[in-house]
Amino acid sequence: MKEKIEQYLREVGQYSETGAEQVEAFRIKYLGKKGLLNDMFEEFKKAAPTDKKELGQMLNTLKNTVQDKINGLKAATGNKGHHLKLDDLTLPVDFTEAGTRHPISIVRNQIVDIFARMGFTVAEGPEIEDDWHNFTALNFPPDHPARDMQDTFFVEHNKIHGDIALRTHTSSVQVRTMENNAPPIRQIFPGRVYRNEAISARAHCMFHQVEGLYIDKDVSFADLKQALLVFAREMFGGETQIRLRPSYFPFTEPSAEMDISCNICGGKGCNICKGSGWVEVLGCGMVDPNVLQNCGIDSKKYSGFAFGIGIERMTMVKYRINDLRLYFENDVRFLQQFEPVY
Ligand code: PHE
Repeated sequence: MKEKIEQYLREVGQYSETGAEQVEAFRIKYLGKKGLLNDMFEEFKKAAPTDKKELGQMLNTLKNTVQDKINGLKAATGNKGHHLKLDDLTLPVDFTEAGTRHPISIVRNQIVDIFARMGFTVAEGPEIEDDWHNFTALNFPPDHPARDMQDTFFVEHNKIHGDIALRTHTSSVQVRTMENNAPPIRQIFPGRVYRNEAISARAHCMFHQVEGLYIDKDVSFADLKQALLVFAREMFGGETQIRLRPSYFPFTEPSAEMDISCNICGGKGCNICKGSGWVEVLGCGMVDPNVLQNCGIDSKKYSGFAFGIGIERMTMVKYRINDLRLYFENDVRFLQQFEPVY
């Protein structure tokens, strides 16, 4: 067996043919399922225990030598092709294929642009948050279901600082902004958020939001409605209608959910809007005075509105994507369909 291995080592050392087919044949001969190395390892099992140490080392050397040789040959093969092209200067150049922007990034940028034109600036915050910024400051009662392990990914239960969790919404950044800035405040907060949900076509444990906050003297619900109408029309076209339905969030009062008229069927009813003609795209409301007070803002002097847009949802409607999982699988056939980045 020893002689055989030594002979193979010599053969491998001398082999020098490049070319994709030859290299592949070489690989199969040594490393293929029925290749020489597998045969040798079979034989090795039957070797006398006293020989095993030496034989094992030799076999490993052979394996590594073969692998190094293949890598070397492959590199030489690639270079050869390259040189050929360089030699013939009349050949057309290779264009580097441009990558594409992820649909979530495209839509996030559009949302940010639209609100930037209305005077909103962008702020970001940490994805790992403490209980105060994610829940307590936002008026969540101690027994609210979102504080349950089933809904939230907790990182640590900390007696001094309170629980630490992956943020469940970017409202946590609103709290940070209000704590650190005096009104007027006009900001949006794009970012990734996490919820403990089973992954399916319609739900994911990680997704993206853009939340917005406007605080000043005399901000009213009419301001909220107008800002959101402008946004919806910029995003989905001038014909778009919006509809606000009463809802509940601990941090806003009154609260609403906003639907847009389905831009796919034009409101007639299709499978994206489940036949209703409307698609829910965001939650919103007037900031609860308790939240303002928690963040050190005088709720007698100031009022404000807030909203939270789900980017995946918006992108689904915009590009007619019917399965959330596509966003995170990184299948190039999906990704290549979007705007190239030059
Ligand atoms: N934070 C809410 C959510 O994640 C969205 C929201 C933001 C609702 C601001 C109202 C006001 O669902």
